[in-house]
Amino acid sequence: MSDLVQLTKTDGIAVVTINNPPVNALSSAVASGIAAAVALIENDDAVRAVVFIGAGRTFIAGADIKEFAERMSGKIICRESLKPLLLRIEDLGKPVVMALHGTAFGGGLELAMAGHYRIALPGTQVGQPEVKLGIIPGAGGTQRLPRLAGVAKAVEMCAQGAPVSAEDALKSGVLDSLVEGDLLTAAIAFAREVAAKPAPKTRERNEKLGTPEQNATIFAAAREKARSKQRGLLAPLAAIDAIESATKLPFEKGCQIEEELFTKCLFSDQSKALIHAFFGEREVAKIPDVPKETPTLNVESVGIVGAGTMGGGIAMVFANAGIPVLLKETDRAALDRGLASIQKNYANSAKRGRFTQQFVDERLKLINTTLDFGEFSNADLVVEAVFEGMTLKKEVFSQLDRVCKPNAILATNTSTLDIDEIASATSRQQSVIGLHFFSPANVMRLLEIVRGAATSKEVIATCMQLSKKLNKVGVLVGNCMGFVGNRMFGPYRREAQFLVEEGASVTAVDDALYEFGMAMGPLATGDLAGLDVGWRIRKENRHLQKTGLRQAFIEDRLCELGRFGQKTGAGWYKYNENRKPSPDPQVSSLIRQWTSEARIPQRQISAQEIVERCIYTLVNEGARILEEGIALRAVDIDIVYLNGYGFPAYRGGPMWYADTIGVKKVYDRICEFQQRLGNWWEPAPLLQRLAEQGKTFAEFSSRRGVAA
Ligand code: 3HC
Ligand code: NAI
Repeated sequence: MSDLVQLTKTDGIAVVTINNPPVNALSSAVASGIAAAVALIENDDAVRAVVFIGAGRTFIAGADIKEFAERMSGKIICRESLKPLLLRIEDLGKPVVMALHGTAFGGGLELAMAGHYRIALPGTQVGQPEVKLGIIPGAGGTQRLPRLAGVAKAVEMCAQGAPVSAEDALKSGVLDSLVEGDLLTAAIAFAREVAAKPAPKTRERNEKLGTPEQNATIFAAAREKARSKQRGLLAPLAAIDAIESATKLPFEKGCQIEEELFTKCLFSDQSKALIHAFFGEREVAKIPDVPKETPTLNVESVGIVGAGTMGGGIAMVFANAGIPVLLKETDRAALDRGLASIQKNYANSAKRGRFTQQFVDERLKLINTTLDFGEFSNADLVVEAVFEGMTLKKEVFSQLDRVCKPNAILATNTSTLDIDEIASATSRQQSVIGLHFFSPANVMRLLEIVRGAATSKEVIATCMQLSKKLNKVGVLVGNCMGFVGNRMFGPYRREAQFLVEEGASVTAVDDALYEFGMAMGPLATGDLAGLDVGWRIRKENRHLQKTGLRQAFIEDRLCELGRFGQKTGAGWYKYNENRKPSPDPQVSSLIRQWTSEARIPQRQISAQEIVERCIYTLVNEGARILEEGIALRAVDIDIVYLNGYGFPAYRGGPMWYADTIGVKKVYDRICEFQQRLGNWWEPAPLLQRLAEQGKTFAEFSSRRGVAA
């Protein structure tokens, strides 16, 4: 037996403890350890009942995902299936009590369901989250779960992948009992109680499998939901198919179907991309020159300057995490407007059932207001979210410098301005950082953490840690115009406009990218964010424009006509009172008129060209960002795009997607575009180099490891 699994026996009760920190992942070695323990128990007549328990903070959070990744890349040719081991446990002939705490996910829940009883501490979560990794349960989960929880609940858990609370799991039959106090003591007592009783095998409990008529309705509704809510994903539909097999076939046959579907999903590009995203989200937290041991500051009270769109949303983010907020505005009316909008947002969330009224009331109590900078003297962190303008931002920062305590963190939510110049308005540039939240701040998971030239490691470490507490994915980025996300989004949206200028319709451009998997087409996104925002920035920065390069012009013309997008009821599309878009024939004829005046030849453009031009321009700019060290690794760029820009998770982010297509292929196409369309398409030097060397972006990043 290995160190990973311990077996102890007292008074006829065997205890198998899984000890593979941090989350007791069910690796091949853990499975071997369990098998060895089972062998010892099988042959020991003195053992009357068995308890399985996890050491540390959790039961088993699932099979070891790293092994999946290795198996896909051919490093592990074949991993022994868990299924025979689970059958052996189920057939042990003495009651097995699974004692759960923390999380029992994936293979962890599958192991638990092979036991004869399951007990848990309150606060435990159970789930089959495999779909989030592009796979389905692969150790009998789709066959045992419907037998315990019923078909509808099993479909919901396996197809959507969301965790279920212990209370809910008890209600649905996944758990037999909730226990308080010391889990091991309770489990041993439970095992003693059931030692003489028959051990009910989950795979033989068919009473919850429903009738064909009931099930047909459940499966049809689940498939429809998967197609609309998990658009483009293969695994949810595969999970539903596997559960359908459980209702129609004997257990062993159902397991075979599950195995086939599991393998198909595991070797799909989708699963590789989603596993990349899973590890990527954890990788971005690792900053090579800001190690885990870097000291951090306490953030227990926060000031926010500006109660507009962003300031209000950011206040909710902190309040939701239980951190008190003091919101400052220029006058009472602006504060009242800001507060009213926060209240309305919370009321909507309560109405939709996202929050309870009690939660909302508690959060609102955490948000206080002021008109006086002086009241920020005790704040640990101040986030500035005033209008975008350097003079105003510097004025605010010099005020903050005057009133804030010496080690307070001073953050700006600017999306375009130079962090170092803002910091120069203070006498403590080491305390200044960018915290770039995305709109709506209380919803979007991305937080770009912008490192200034002087920002201290302590401040960076604190903000990275804080992002997790705020339920955000914090990505450290360097200081440049647009940072990572918006810097890449500029060329992406410019290309979308060029395509329209060359003859593609507005809907053809948006539909092609929507079909690719983007949450929204680039032109519709412009309408949502407000076309006037970019228009104003372009007007201010006209002097910075590179000469001799083609400039997109349609959006400027639309703005000149007052078509700012959704907020004015018209932009690229026209909108009804519920902000529902429809194509606008007036826009089509204006575009035809403007492009003919500009003598731009019109042609049919395929959906493939639309996708390639928009996505490859993201990749090309991403390559520059990577080479300049504005992003630490290619995966950081991917995580920005997956969490802030609606890039389809099953494609892994733009840089991963380029690796999947082949860097050389992307490079060659970009060279063709350069020849045909001009110098916006000049290939990034890094892209060229990787293409010539036959390397991937992932390989480049893994060797790099320098700070932004
Ligand atoms: N396999 C391998 N490593 C895992 C893992 C897993 N199943 N789950 C978590 N880890 C690693 C993380 O990569 C991280 O490593 P790092 O410290 O080197 O970055 C470490 O464990 C801690 O993880 P988190 O930072 O995510 O810790 P949290 O406390 O925030 O979250 C968790 C814990 C809720 C368990 C979360 O890690 C999680 O959701 N894990 C994935 C669970 C999952 O998907 N399980 C199903 C796996 S597939 C399967 O079981 C197939 C089966 O049907 C055969
Ligand atoms: P907004 O116009 O909605 O709000 C700005 C608020 O700041 C106004 O309510 C104004 O009264 C207040 N204000 C101005 N001077 C002030 C002062 N001296 N003290 C206190 N309050 C003051 O603007 P929005 O959209 O919230 O943007 C704020 C910042 O966030 C900008 O830097 C913007 O670039 C950035 N940002 C905006 C995003 C968006 O989608 N709106 C997304 C990400 C960042």
